[in-house]
Amino acid sequence: MCGIVGVTGGTEVLPNLLDSLGRLEYRGYDSAGVVLGAAGLPLWRRRRAFGTKSLADLAADTGTAPPEATWGLGHVRWATHGRPSETNAHPHTDCSGRLALVHNGIIENYLELGDHLSALGHQMASETDTEVLAHLIEQRMSEGAGLEDAVANSMTELRGAFALAVVHADEPGLIVAARRVSPLVLGRTEGSAMVASDIPALLGKADEFFVLDDDQLAVVRPGSIVVTDSNRNEIPLQPRVVEWDLQAAERGGFDDFMSKEIHEQPTAIADTLLGRLLPSAGSPPAYRALHLDEERLSDEELRAVDKVFVVACGSSFHAGLVAKHAIEHWARLPVEIDVASEFRYRDPVLDSNTLVVAISQSGETVDTLQAARSAAAQRAKVLAVTNVVDSSMARESDAVLYTRAGPEIGVAATKTHLTQIIALEILALYLAQVRGLFYPSELAMLLGALGSLPEKVARAIERGGEVEAVAQRLAGVRNFFFLGRHVGYPVALEGALKLKEISYLRAEGYPAGELKHGPIALIEPGSVVVAVATRTPLWEKVLSNVAEVRARGATVVLVANEGDDETAALADEVLWVPAADSPLLAPVIDVVPLQLLAYHLARAHGNDVDRPRNLAKTVTVE
Ligand code: M6R
Repeated sequence: MCGIVGVTGGTEVLPNLLDSLGRLEYRGYDSAGVVLGAAGLPLWRRRRAFGTKSLADLAADTGTAPPEATWGLGHVRWATHGRPSETNAHPHTDCSGRLALVHNGIIENYLELGDHLSALGHQMASETDTEVLAHLIEQRMSEGAGLEDAVANSMTELRGAFALAVVHADEPGLIVAARRVSPLVLGRTEGSAMVASDIPALLGKADEFFVLDDDQLAVVRPGSIVVTDSNRNEIPLQPRVVEWDLQAAERGGFDDFMSKEIHEQPTAIADTLLGRLLPSAGSPPAYRALHLDEERLSDEELRAVDKVFVVACGSSFHAGLVAKHAIEHWARLPVEIDVASEFRYRDPVLDSNTLVVAISQSGETVDTLQAARSAAAQRAKVLAVTNVVDSSMARESDAVLYTRAGPEIGVAATKTHLTQIIALEILALYLAQVRGLFYPSELAMLLGALGSLPEKVARAIERGGEVEAVAQRLAGVRNFFFLGRHVGYPVALEGALKLKEISYLRAEGYPAGELKHGPIALIEPGSVVVAVATRTPLWEKVLSNVAEVRARGATVVLVANEGDDETAALADEVLWVPAADSPLLAPVIDVVPLQLLAYHLARAHGNDVDRPRNLAKTVTVE
């Protein structure tokens, strides 16, 4: 977890660091810190640990920062080792205070290294795994290595995951950065250079962008970046094309990123479909075929696939549950699905005809990344569905299908979740297409249905005022059940997850038919049950399950299709949505009012929707 940034060159080092840290806050906000270097002066360091106020508090306490600073590092923390406190906040220093570093990841052998370094006389000030690194590099320097070699030598002794950036008071303008597993990107202008955990932190500040690979080391100086591999051979730099602009990473007039990102969903879906549905000639044009632009697996290889595994976490996992329905139904391939953190520990049976679909908004979630790596090690073909171009998962997979949602800053996944479902439905249809399972008219109908989703999702968002009114009436409720069946079940799970993570309210998602096997014992007068009751294949059965909870006194909130009075008659509150043109596409529309319900309930409780407590957007630790 955590976000790191480093800047060298130019006169605006501190404002640049603070600005980039603001864009990285979604990765963690338990504490924030910066260190600045100015030639001939000792390093200047400030750290603050005030939860979501840490960065603002830090920015307000920079009056004594050296105005002549020309290089520095910054960090926002999501605590793993050591409670959130100023002492545990980064940057960490060595014994002399002349070396400082920031780190994202976990050093698994930090206790062992720490004991060894303590025996050599090093004094640890914090409870973190990170501080050990500062002392390890100090030790190597005391044995004669320069900063660059000391970092490179230290890397060989580390187990675990790290993206780190190191500075030394005796090396003006130099930042040494390195990574293994945790992401690190680099940016350059003529007179400056930067490192950061992700691209949005560098938008508007760099002219060229680069990605550091595992076990590579970067020597970063104003206007210059030299990258070497684990054998210290220089690697030619390959600039990456970055299409995101700064505005995309800012709030654009909304109260918070989450509502901005919910409102961006129609465009994000349209962008994700762009160029992938091929129109037929004729007027009006209909869609006739699918095209996958970033595929690196041939149609022949896809035709050979005889089993699909889906691995993902959180909201991405819920998108994967929809994919299971879609791939089984349309492509007639068996699909297994696992939360990624379980997958590689249960000995799954894979071979070269297995397609593993790894879904991750960030492309950096370590559980999913490691699941994909273990699948690749068993010769399975790995296809990543991710929103981040050049993320670790995108680079390491056999094929990649990008969602084109633009940067998502709110910790709660919204537009990336919807676009994941879209990308996965495209994949399911594509697999069916290469397997020759569709009549052209059937495919054209489904592609047309996909094409109509941006407009339908926009209509669901326009009903936000009605959802807000429902949220206000439910503001005193503390326990929610979310029910759904078939593709409504992942929608229920996603609705419950959204509510939990930003409202801190108890919310359980169940397959509606399972309720009578135990959980219905929890239903009593005053319980609130939210059910997905749109006209998907098991709609009638959902209504029977709703009747069961109603009979036990529950307050019933139903997601129902516009104009469906028969369904509405069973509800105390209705969340109306347009009907999808194909049942398997319904989750894309049906989840929208549940995002909005969670959003308005969280606001009613006075919560910070973008930065919910205890969470980080990208989970880069196991
Ligand atoms: O970046 P990823 O899609 O791999 O992230 C997976 C989960 O951590 C993520 O979906 C998480 O559950 C979200 N906060 C949900 O809103």
